[in-house]
Amino acid sequence: MPLQVEKFKAIDIGRVCSWIKSEAAMVLWAGPSFEWPMTQKQLREQLRAAKGKAATLFPFGLYRGSVLIGYCELAQYNRKSQSANLSRVIISPKHRNKGFAQIMIGHVLKFGFGELGLNRIGLGVFDFNKLAIKCYKNMGFKLEGTLRESYKVGDSFWNCHVMSILCKEWQAKL
Ligand SMILES: CC(C)(COP(=O)(O)OP(=O)(O)OC[C@H]1O[C@@H](n2cnc3c(N)ncnc32)[C@H](O)[C@@H]1OP(=O)(O)O)[C@@H](O)C(=O)NCCC(=O)NCCS
Repeated sequence: MPLQVEKFKAIDIGRVCSWIKSEAAMVLWAGPSFEWPMTQKQLREQLRAAKGKAATLFPFGLYRGSVLIGYCELAQYNRKSQSANLSRVIISPKHRNKGFAQIMIGHVLKFGFGELGLNRIGLGVFDFNKLAIKCYKNMGFKLEGTLRESYKVGDSFWNCHVMSILCKEWQAKL
């Protein structure tokens, strides 16, 4: 069955939420944007930023046929700075480690740099999320620095790496 990356369909909000089984998994995926227990309503409310001409959010789904197997967003779109952040990247637990995140991110970079005319796409990733970091490095993201102990989860402070890719770096990889 072929894979497609498309505009995320709100009907699939419940499927994304079903992949998040704990508070730690929620923060690993989405940082501090949701309250645990995460509800479909919370994600639906965040997706309001995707509406209208002044949208700052572009949610994408990775679909195999009609079934959603991945989700991510281009968020915090800033027209003046021609920048945005890749965020809330997730692949269904059953479909991980098959290169699907890299397929999905490849399409999103093409949309961001090609259609939106971005110059920079940044992201934040926790320093122990080695699989995600490998995936972003493979796509050409470079490490800019680390926001040390910038998130508190339970009794622990987590370090967040900031990474980015510039349009000229993406073009050089084509
Ligand atoms: C992070 C995530 C999106 C990656 O999705 P995925 O489809 O499994 O990733 P891919 O298969 O495209 O790429 C993973 C890469 O990491 C490598 N990898 C796997 N396990 C690894 C490990 N323990 N340490 C380092 N690299 C690892 C894989 O080999 C692959 O690299 P390769 O293509 O060079 O072989 C997925 O694990 C996920 O949904 N995690 C939960 C949510 C999350 O953490 N999101 C990121 C928020 S910043």
